Amino acid sequence: MTVSTRRRWTSADIPDQRGRTAVITGANTGLGFQTAKLLAQHGATVILACRNTGRAAEAAARISASSDPTVRTLQLDLASLASIRRAAEQLRADHPRLDLLINNAGGIRPQYAVTEDGFESTIATNHLGPFAFTGLVLDRLLTVPGSRVVTVGSIGHRRGTIDFDDLHFARGYRYQHAYAQSKLANLMFTYELHRRLASAGVPTIAVAAHPGNVRTGFGREMPLPVRVMTHPRLRTLTWWLLQSPQKGALATTRAAVDPDVRGGDYYGPPGRAQFTGYPDRVRSTAGSHDAAAQRRLWQESERLTGITYPVAD
Ligand SMILES: NC(=O)c1ccc[n+]([C@@H]2O[C@H](COP(=O)([O-])OP(=O)(O)OC[C@H]3O[C@@H](n4cnc5c(N)ncnc54)[C@H](OP(=O)(O)O)[C@@H]3O)[C@@H](O)[C@H]2O)c1
Repeated sequence: MTVSTRRRWTSADIPDQRGRTAVITGANTGLGFQTAKLLAQHGATVILACRNTGRAAEAAARISASSDPTVRTLQLDLASLASIRRAAEQLRADHPRLDLLINNAGGIRPQYAVTEDGFESTIATNHLGPFAFTGLVLDRLLTVPGSRVVTVGSIGHRRGTIDFDDLHFARGYRYQHAYAQSKLANLMFTYELHRRLASAGVPTIAVAAHPGNVRTGFGREMPLPVRVMTHPRLRTLTWWLLQSPQKGALATTRAAVDPDVRGGDYYGPPGRAQFTGYPDRVRSTAGSHDAAAQRRLWQESERLTGITYPVAD
């Protein structure tokens, strides 16, 4: 039996975050909430960017009750380019500098739906929205030493392909494919952004993370067997498959704050399955590293959202 000699990375490893400002999308619940809470507990000013202002305020109150942080909220619906533009404008007006942008928000949608911008809703929420939002606020990070864009992917990316001829599933929708495509897009976006940031010679880095499988509200719209499997009451049976939101959020947090992280890295639970565990550097599929496909996805994302990045190819 091989015994790993690697030390576990836990919340005790989070460096002092005082003086830093972090924007976390989808921070009202699940992994985003836990990530925001950890950063706030270590002194960061956190901005909870959420689509529902009531849920955001409630989350802010819960974080404030657990420590003495500065917590702000920002209304952001990633399925709407108009909302993304408003949120970016507000953020830019309030914050001349940002240290961390954490693209956490995301979802899986059993039913086919199209957004007001005409995008299939999974690719809109999970990739095109974060792409647009990041592009609109990136200049606030570009001069900040140690700044990072962290995007949350999934082991689901392994089953993903980018269908450039039918990105929006007009020829038939399968939610598993839509989710896997969007999570592959998250990784390709990170790697292409990393390349652009590195060639621009700026201090900002782009990093990806995935939490493994986590008991959050994520599967709430999924078929019954999935909801049963992921139910917290079955914890003693599913401990090997799913972990707690607190532990799952460590991967994103490590990608955001560990000084050893490099641009283009990908963090998640290690091992073959990567279902559970403390975060370490992990590998994504060969397809996610296809530079030509990354560039094509970037160009298509710019065309669809109308957002041009301040870092060129
Ligand atoms: N849980 C897992 O096993 C797992 C595994 C791999 C990857 N992930 C990834 O981890 C991330 C967080 O998931 P989670 O497990 O924490 O799920 P969750 O508990 O369902 O939280 C998702 C968050 O995203 C927000 N969101 C959804 N659609 C949005 C939109 N259009 N605009 C703005 N915010 C929106 C949700 O807001 P509302 O509360 O308003 O709905 C919520 O705050 C996702 O990117 C997901 O793909 C999760």
